[in-house]
Amino acid sequence: MDKPLTQLGLTTPVVAAPMAGGPSTPDLALAAARGGGLGFLAGGYKTPETLTSEITKVRASGLPFGVNLFAPNPIRIDESAYRQYANTLRPVADRYGVDLSRVALTEDDDRWQDKVDLLLADPVPVASFTFGIPDRTVIKALREAGTLVAQTVTSVAEARLAQEAGVDLLIVQSSAAGGHSGILTPDDTPPEVPLPRLLGEIGDATRMPLLAAGGLATPAAITAAIEAGAAAAVVGTVLLRCPESGTSPPHRAALADAGRRTTVTHAFTGRPARALSNEFTDRFSALAPSGYPALHHLTSPLRKAAAAAGDTEYLHLWAGTGYEHATAEPAERVLTSLASRL
Ligand SMILES: Cc1cc2nc3c(=O)[nH]c(=O)nc-3n(C[C@H](O)[C@H](O)[C@H](O)COP(=O)(O)O)c2cc1C
Repeated sequence: MDKPLTQLGLTTPVVAAPMAGGPSTPDLALAAARGGGLGFLAGGYKTPETLTSEITKVRASGLPFGVNLFAPNPIRIDESAYRQYANTLRPVADRYGVDLSRVALTEDDDRWQDKVDLLLADPVPVASFTFGIPDRTVIKALREAGTLVAQTVTSVAEARLAQEAGVDLLIVQSSAAGGHSGILTPDDTPPEVPLPRLLGEIGDATRMPLLAAGGLATPAAITAAIEAGAAAAVVGTVLLRCPESGTSPPHRAALADAGRRTTVTHAFTGRPARALSNEFTDRFSALAPSGYPALHHLTSPLRKAAAAAGDTEYLHLWAGTGYEHATAEPAERVLTSLASRL
């Protein structure tokens, strides 16, 4: 394992990915750390207050952990394209009694500065960023506070930008990954490059320590990622059904349903993300404009209503290509078994 990870005290090179929107919990992060790996808290969508209380809970264990934030990199959308999409969604919204015409166009930054401030005020062992690369002054301040800084990248060009910005570690995310892509140009669809090849290219270009993410759900896939140059493997989807995860019941049920396809869509949030295909992705992926976070806020009431009704057809069912390997076993057991061939 590379120096930054052994310094943290990791004995197993497996990381529980940050998964915003519910799945990442303090218990999931702690389970990963107890297995000798590293767990993450997901700061995205949360209030700084909630994030602080989660950090307090995990910090009390004395085990290593990371915190992930969405770094602002909005795709602005004009009002008419936004309203047109709201109109397109109307037949679905109507069936849940949701009035999307009342959802104001919101371009917030997820309280970025407040969250950075809390990481600087009470530093955490690892901070990772996705969607955008923080300003180099922020990265420098975090590093000076003793935090190891990691950046999600999806290409050689992005890896070079993150390296220039001064991060310690790169999280190389392939398009097989579940949930949002960290792509810095979210109008584009992430290219379908196999993870070992992407690791090789980014390793050659940067010579930086790499973490591998995307579709890793079996011991063989994890071994291949490590052999391709990763210091550790990051797994998300394979943990979504674990009891420690805060995944919603309908999402869990859909993941247990083998034989579905996954697809990359920006129809839910205006930013590309991999999800299980359902009615929503089939009907709206080709019609949705880009526009994050505005589309995230627009579809949120509809998705909440679908979740409350237990309707998996109009929900964002984030899932990587390896979702069929996700089981309902405890996280520590899942992670230990994934590392069994290393
Ligand atoms: C439900 C879900 C939510 C996610 N949320 C985040 C997030 O908040 N921040 C982040 O950096 N990555 C997020 N990701 C991406 C993961 O960090 C990781 O790249 C991905 O899970 C790896 O691929 P896999 O799901 O195939 O294992 C999310 C993934 C999933 C499945």
